[in-house]
Amino acid sequence: MYKETLEKLQEATITFEKGLNKVFTQQYNPFYYHGAVPNFFMWTLFITGLLLFVYYQPTLDSAYISVNFITTKLPFGNIIRGLHRYAADAMMIAVLVHAIRVYFTDRYRKYRWIAWYSGVVLLIGMLIIGITGYILVWDERSYMIVLAMTDALKQIPFLGLPLAKIFVNGDVISHYTLAMSFFFHIGISFSLLFLLWLHYLRISRPVTDVPLGLGLLLLSSIMIPASVYPVASVNPAVLTKLPTQFPLDWFYLWIFPMFSGMPALIVWTIVFIATTLLFALPFLVTDKEKAPAVVSLTNCVGCTLCAKDCPYEAIYMVPRTDHPKYKQLAVVIDARCSECGLCVGACAFKAIDLPQNHSKEVITKISDLLKEPA
Ligand code: HEM
Ligand code: HEM
Ligand code: SF4
Ligand code: SF4
Repeated sequence: MYKETLEKLQEATITFEKGLNKVFTQQYNPFYYHGAVPNFFMWTLFITGLLLFVYYQPTLDSAYISVNFITTKLPFGNIIRGLHRYAADAMMIAVLVHAIRVYFTDRYRKYRWIAWYSGVVLLIGMLIIGITGYILVWDERSYMIVLAMTDALKQIPFLGLPLAKIFVNGDVISHYTLAMSFFFHIGISFSLLFLLWLHYLRISRPVTDVPLGLGLLLLSSIMIPASVYPVASVNPAVLTKLPTQFPLDWFYLWIFPMFSGMPALIVWTIVFIATTLLFALPFLVTDKEKAPAVVSLTNCVGCTLCAKDCPYEAIYMVPRTDHPKYKQLAVVIDARCSECGLCVGACAFKAIDLPQNHSKEVITKISDLLKEPA
């Protein structure tokens, strides 16, 4: 039942994407760049973040003033701040669309589990970066975030108190609270790059860049709101006065209304279950019996072409001593094999084949697919 629903979703997604070709053309269809679009916004965040970094001062007395200086006095400062804020929201939307797309098109499990797992960690990292970003402004909203977050963290059994102390860097809110938020904001931002390396590890040719035309379209999608609706801080934080009302960013701060609506322990339990479910997803569907590529000991000449062509690094070469002429033998790592058939095409010696999908059938399937209109 679950599998049939997934198959229907896959068909619907592909039909929807083909429909979008009429608007964007095949060359600029954003769904064909579903991973490259969040990547584009991430680099926009890095560039604008580094520019903000030059003028930002992470202390209780200066943070609000420095953000105000950037917004009101620095030439194009309000645009840079606006681009940073709107790119953060756009990146979250793009990442969610990307995650849903890979899920709906069944490109998230089996040998792709590393991409999915690193994706979930990227998503968690983004949320922490966003929350700490809102603290940096040090307005009433930032103060409320720090208060609500430390309270909520303290409710986590055993780990709660030390976690809350790390978050504010001590027992009370001080300059170190902002320094810590700044450290998390920038430190986790840069660790996204390592996670992305992991994300692409098993993808042989990841599509990471958008074409120029689409890039300009994406840039204007954040440039227009940054110019028309400039980003502003709310009132400055005053430690002796509890703030009452402030606007929320639903992409990054959605957890805070939950904390005010129910006990923190219940919220953490929901978060824990949701995260576990995300990690379990790739293993919820079982497939037909796996039939990875098989190498023929007699035909393999050890030319290494299959190992070079395999997109999932599922083939490695081992030295062989059982043959007078051939010095190497190809070996398939079953768990990594996607049964894609590329090695079958690469081998000129009929030495590797798919047991359930012989080379002839693979060639017929490929020619049928090529005949289908895009
Ligand atoms: C995925 C990456 C990033 C995300 C999602 C993100 C998100 C945010 C958000 C939502 C804010 C609050 C915006 C506002 O209300 O003004 C913010 C502020 C800030 N961010 Fe980032 N950021 C990222 C990367 C970076 C990087 C790499 C740097 C610096 C190297 C940086 C530096 C800053 C600074 C200095 C502020 C405070 C100034 C301000 O609010 O305009 N950010 N960030
Ligand atoms: C910082 C955020 C992210 C960026 C920049 C990013 C970027 C990318 C890129 C460029 C690709 C290659 C796409 C292609 O070649 O067509 C990719 C693949 C993938 N991503 Fe992400 N991603 C992010 C977050 C996520 C998240 C949150 C998930 C899921 C929870 C996810 C799951 C996947 C999977 C499963 C693939 C493999 C798809 C395939 O092989 O066709 N990603 N990602
Ligand atoms: S079928 Fe061949 S090329 Fe494709 S993943 Fe398996 S070993 Fe690699
Ligand atoms: S391409 Fe064929 S002959 Fe060459 S190493 Fe691979 S299986 Fe052996």
